[in-house]
Amino acid sequence: MGKEQKPVMLSGIQPSGHLCIGNYIGALKNWVELQDNYDNIFLVVDMHALTVPQVPAELRKRCLSFVAQYIACGIDPAKSTIVMQSHVPQHAELMWVLNSVTYMGELSRMTQFKDKSQNQKNVNIGLFSYPVLMAADILLYQTNLVPVGADQKQHLELARDVAERFNNRYSETFVVPEPYIPKTGARIMSLQEPAKKMSKSDDNLNNILALLDSPEVIVKKIKRAVTDSGSEVRYDESKPGLSNLVSMYSVLSGESFEEIEKRFSGKLYGDFKTDLADLVVEVLRPVQSRYNEIMADKGYLEEVLATGAQDAYTRARKTLSKVYRKIGFVAPKR
Ligand code: TYM
Repeated sequence: MGKEQKPVMLSGIQPSGHLCIGNYIGALKNWVELQDNYDNIFLVVDMHALTVPQVPAELRKRCLSFVAQYIACGIDPAKSTIVMQSHVPQHAELMWVLNSVTYMGELSRMTQFKDKSQNQKNVNIGLFSYPVLMAADILLYQTNLVPVGADQKQHLELARDVAERFNNRYSETFVVPEPYIPKTGARIMSLQEPAKKMSKSDDNLNNILALLDSPEVIVKKIKRAVTDSGSEVRYDESKPGLSNLVSMYSVLSGESFEEIEKRFSGKLYGDFKTDLADLVVEVLRPVQSRYNEIMADKGYLEEVLATGAQDAYTRARKTLSKVYRKIGFVAPKR
């Protein structure tokens, strides 16, 4: 089957903080596993990153580093289009159109907006309209499948609602996307505060396992991870700290919870943590060595992004022209 005939898969990550094992398990790992069956677009959403304060020079470096980490994790530029969001102006253009079919009430209900705007004096509009830009990212490429972690489910529902509303108002225009959320690992929790989500932009680096953490740091962080009282190694929702580590182990090893329980029966939390740390180190070792190779070849990264932008631009222009025609804009004479 040619690339064009496959259904479209699209996803993205906001370049803030440090890519972490939560992003890997909830999203990146699934992108890699699904990439052969789809026509793929993976975004580094630099425009979304503006909704939180950024140091310009660091943002620039981080954007390139994220592209390199996508590739190091197994995203193959020969099979997947990797795109820097700001390289394709149609994302912002489509967002403007979608703003007019999205309601304030819908955006006010977004839990991520509520969390991120809490305790802030001046909430910027970008933070509020963030999900509309995300809907534009998805709808621009007529996406069928969006692999994400559980925290993005509500944003995806909004994208579906906006697509359906636009289609009803202006006739069939957009594909209505389906989410892909993994059964295990859709919400990896913080190592030190297992009641909250592991977040790549957490200031406390002990809460996260970064993909680029050294083996020593990984071992130390897992050793110190908060576990609950008790001694049996098993998945149990009343024990969020331990269960979080068991989920990680399960996804990274491919073993079921039952197999893990059997493997560690009669052993201590400490033994389990040692094995988990070994597992994470082994998964990340090849990722880190590929990452170092890729980062040493800046020309390669630029080439990947140039090809990605060109491919995405052609596709995005097609959808946007269709949208402009449907809503009654006069086409410019070329
Ligand atoms: P972001 O950058 O916060 O997260 C990137 C991806 O990682 C997943 N994720 C997690 N999964 C499991 N456990 C966790 N602790 C965890 N933390 C993060 C997220 O669910 C996500 O899949 N708005 C999006 C980026 C975006 C996007 C898009 C995604 C912009 N446009 C279009 C899909 C399609 C975001 O901020 O994700």
